[in-house]
Amino acid sequence: MDAIRIRGGNPLRGRIRVSGAKNAALPILCATLLSPGTCLLRNVPSLRDIHTLAALLRFLGRDTEVGEGTVAVRAEGANVRPEAPYELVKQMRASVLVLGPLLARYGRARVSLPGGCAIGARPVDQHLKGLEAMGARIELDRGYITAKGPDTEKGRLRGAEFCFDNVIVTGTEHLMMAASLAKGRTVLSNCAQEPEVTELAQVLNSMGSQIQGAGSHQITIDGVDELRPCDHIVASDRIEAGTFMVAAAATAGDVIVEGASFEHMHGFVSKLRDAGCTVTRDDDGVRVRRDGPLRPTNITTAPYPGFPTDMQAQFMVLMCLANGRSIITEMIFENRFMHVSELARMGANIDVRGNTAIVHGVPNLSGASVMATDLRASASLVIAGLVATSHETDILRVYHLDRGYEHIEHKLARLGADITRIKDARA
Ligand code: EPU
Repeated sequence: MDAIRIRGGNPLRGRIRVSGAKNAALPILCATLLSPGTCLLRNVPSLRDIHTLAALLRFLGRDTEVGEGTVAVRAEGANVRPEAPYELVKQMRASVLVLGPLLARYGRARVSLPGGCAIGARPVDQHLKGLEAMGARIELDRGYITAKGPDTEKGRLRGAEFCFDNVIVTGTEHLMMAASLAKGRTVLSNCAQEPEVTELAQVLNSMGSQIQGAGSHQITIDGVDELRPCDHIVASDRIEAGTFMVAAAATAGDVIVEGASFEHMHGFVSKLRDAGCTVTRDDDGVRVRRDGPLRPTNITTAPYPGFPTDMQAQFMVLMCLANGRSIITEMIFENRFMHVSELARMGANIDVRGNTAIVHGVPNLSGASVMATDLRASASLVIAGLVATSHETDILRVYHLDRGYEHIEHKLARLGADITRIKDARA
């Protein structure tokens, strides 16, 4: 397994371009199952999760070609096999999003339950209840979800009214896709408003769906008989952008993050400013710089447009170096403080009580060997390594990082970081 070695202390300076958004590309790739013909996605990041989903699409019978920043998914002559095995689904939870499109298109599907996850239980009950509201008959058997369309309507899902128990990003995306080919109108309430939901709705509409209200709490979908293929450029990754912005702030640097969308980061940007960073719009993205000390800042994660849970771990590193006490409350996932014990090995002073972390700022962090536990925790350890002023940091189990950050070591090195990948290091 690879490791990342960082010698910290260099302020990051320069320009960096953000890649396409993983969490936008994944549901759009699942949506390609809804149409005949060839779908083309551009600006797709080269990430482990994308390759995992491409392998799943191939397994399902789609000719899927991953190129330089592109993925082409061809349905022609496909030998459809609406069945997603555990071996592929367990590698990435978002794989469960193939269920709704397969069911909507072929009237049946069998998809493995995703299983455990480091950051929380992450059930899919709301996804399944929503599909049931559309007439699907769902059975759980030996770790698999078997779904069939209703007996009436020749197995075609039917429009329904469904209110999510809580705000769920992939759940909203999942039901939007399934409802696109249902008979009649579906009204989804308490929907996630994340930009990735809006982007998926735009793509589905370009394919012929009739979706209104994406980006608000209520989404209306008028089902259509068939969809056409899409050709779409994936938007920039706001979490990757945010990660570089925190890295710039943490190292007291000055970085322009090209492609970062200011509009999609208000909740996060206002907290960066509270912490003492200067954040401005640039022609081509967002500029972050810091000259003065870091101020303690409290954050509470929330669905969009609140502070994203996917930025909590990275922001915590910033607060480790602030001049005072910050309180960080995680409201989305029940176990998303796995980075705390690793940061403590680097000299951070953090108390965790339930879903709250009390961060007492320290003057410096020092390098150590640390273990990545999930994607965003790994990103926080990279930032901690960049600021550690004594000793080098080795981040083990980098495969987590590779799920969500494209060439992160090359990008950070271009900004002046002393960072290298060590191939096949021992974990
Ligand atoms: N939940 C339920 N029932 C469900 C589904 C979810 O109770 O049927 C709960 C979960 O347990 C969790 C909360 O609802 O407490 C939020 O889960 P959600 O389903 O919104 O998360 P997700 O859709 O599985 C997406 C992103 C995550 C991101 C979250 C929150 C993708 C592929 N994943 O996950 O991204 O953290 O929304 O914004 O879009 C990451 O990129 O590192 C990542 C984990």
